[in-house]
Amino acid sequence: MESERAKTGIPGFDELVEGGFPSGSAVLVSGAAGTGKSIFAIQFLVAGARAGEKGLYITFEEREKDIKDQAKLFGWDLDSFMRDRKLKIVSIKYPYLRKSAKDMIELSERANTTLDRIGKELEEFRPARVVIDSVATLSTALPPDIGTERTRDVITALLTLLKDAGTTSILTSELATESAWFSRDEISEFLADGIVLLKSVSMGNSVNRTLEVRKMRRTAINGETHSYDITKKGVSVK
Ligand SMILES: Nc1ncnc2c1ncn2[C@@H]1O[C@H](COP(=O)(O)OP(=O)(O)OP(=O)(O)O)[C@@H](O)[C@H]1O
Ligand SMILES: [Mg+2]
Repeated sequence: MESERAKTGIPGFDELVEGGFPSGSAVLVSGAAGTGKSIFAIQFLVAGARAGEKGLYITFEEREKDIKDQAKLFGWDLDSFMRDRKLKIVSIKYPYLRKSAKDMIELSERANTTLDRIGKELEEFRPARVVIDSVATLSTALPPDIGTERTRDVITALLTLLKDAGTTSILTSELATESAWFSRDEISEFLADGIVLLKSVSMGNSVNRTLEVRKMRRTAINGETHSYDITKKGVSVK
């Protein structure tokens, strides 16, 4: 059981982490906008689906159609996986943060509603792999004055849900470029079993992309920085 690994389907990645994510773990894939977090996450579900493992993709950011269209560019026919019940996409519209006290209470309740919804999907679909895209959307939708404690509670509850359901999961997270008075990402980084950090730096008319495995429980990692690419076949590590 200890040595069981979930192959990510990212060429060159599994070698960095003893063959894949530890089964049952929750890994944060963190990076700025456009670094390939969503593509990485979908690729992980596609690899699972191809191996007969059910995958659940929960998004707060994109419509199902946009995800399918994006995937098509990489040659992944999500519709066919969905027909085979190997993939389910759930798009949850999240309310934007509002100012009044009444709205804040409502938003806090909606975070619970969202967790209930995820719990229900896990129970009904029984996926082996789950993607939450993104955990930042979930926590930033919480009113700021409920603070660290509450954010931690929500993320803990989410991770507990995912783990109790026996899933191996990816939580995408937008890394704040500057650290704020407190970083919500720090909370999820602390609680997650693993952290994969994606960075893209523009170099004239090309992009220099680097990947780091910052943390992976039950795994020997070397802390090196690796180059990665996004090509017609998706994300790959060089
Ligand atoms: N067909 C493609 N071929 C090569 N690269 C692509 C292709 N489609 C998208 N990309 C690259 O992937 C990036 C977008 O990836 P993705 O949507 O996974 O990013 P993200 O980290 O999830 O961003 P966000 O935080 O905005 O959701 C684009 O910036 C682009 O550089
Ligand atoms: Mg994305």
